[in-house]
Amino acid sequence: MLKRKSRRKVRRKSIGLFLVVLVWSLGMGWLLAFASNAYSAVLTAEIGTVDVVPAKYQIGQELYLENCSTCHIALPPAVLPSQTWKNLLQDSQHYGATLKPLVDPGRILVWRYISTFSRPQKKDERTPYRVNSSRYFKALHPQVKLPRPVKIGSCVACHPGASKYNFRRLSSEWDNPKE
Ligand code: HEC
Ligand code: HEC
Repeated sequence: MLKRKSRRKVRRKSIGLFLVVLVWSLGMGWLLAFASNAYSAVLTAEIGTVDVVPAKYQIGQELYLENCSTCHIALPPAVLPSQTWKNLLQDSQHYGATLKPLVDPGRILVWRYISTFSRPQKKDERTPYRVNSSRYFKALHPQVKLPRPVKIGSCVACHPGASKYNFRRLSSEWDNPKE
């Protein structure tokens, strides 16, 4: 009687162990897929953004690029104040186009990425909705003769990697703008 009971116990234990191993390996598979996805996002982003993006913001960056670079190039967050981005992420009415607004938790991840890489606007400054009227965009272009108005389509003339989210590489005429 005792013996049979303990055999049953062993069997139950090994089923338990099997389940643990199963869940663990599924989990690892998922984690690996997740990590390699994040990694490929880093690869496509190269070092083309203004700052290196820490791992915890990479998913947000990937989602941003996925959602905001289908109709036009994705602008780097630094060119507009955080307030602009916040409003844009909440609004389905978008410069005459209609967007399917991002839903949480994706929206929160995008917001964490964007808010980390942009700055708050000044207290009594009007929220700019065009890079052409953004102080931060101007600040990133000291002594650069920009087309007026500068539009989302004008970036690529001087930033040949703009469609790959690379704003560090410059077309040769700008390689040394101060000379
Ligand atoms: C359905 C197409 C579409 C999608 C998707 C889209 N946009 Fe736009 N976006 C537009 C259009 C159209 C304009 C206006 C272009 C113009 O007038 O030069 C625009 C303009 C902008 C501008 C102003 C650029 C400037 O200075 O002139 C910003 C900033 C912007 N979009 C951010 C975003 C963000 C953030 C997302 C993702 C949430 C996004 N867009 C997704 C269509 C889209
Ligand atoms: C007429 C050429 C020109 C145009 C158009 C232009 N840029 Fe630039 N951009 C430059 C130059 C030159 C620099 C480097 C300025 C410096 O370092 O002093 C620069 C720097 C930047 C930087 C900083 C990169 C870094 O390494 O820190 C960002 C971000 C940027 N530009 C975004 C944009 C975006 C977005 C657009 C389009 C809306 C745009 N630029 C349009 C010439 C241009």
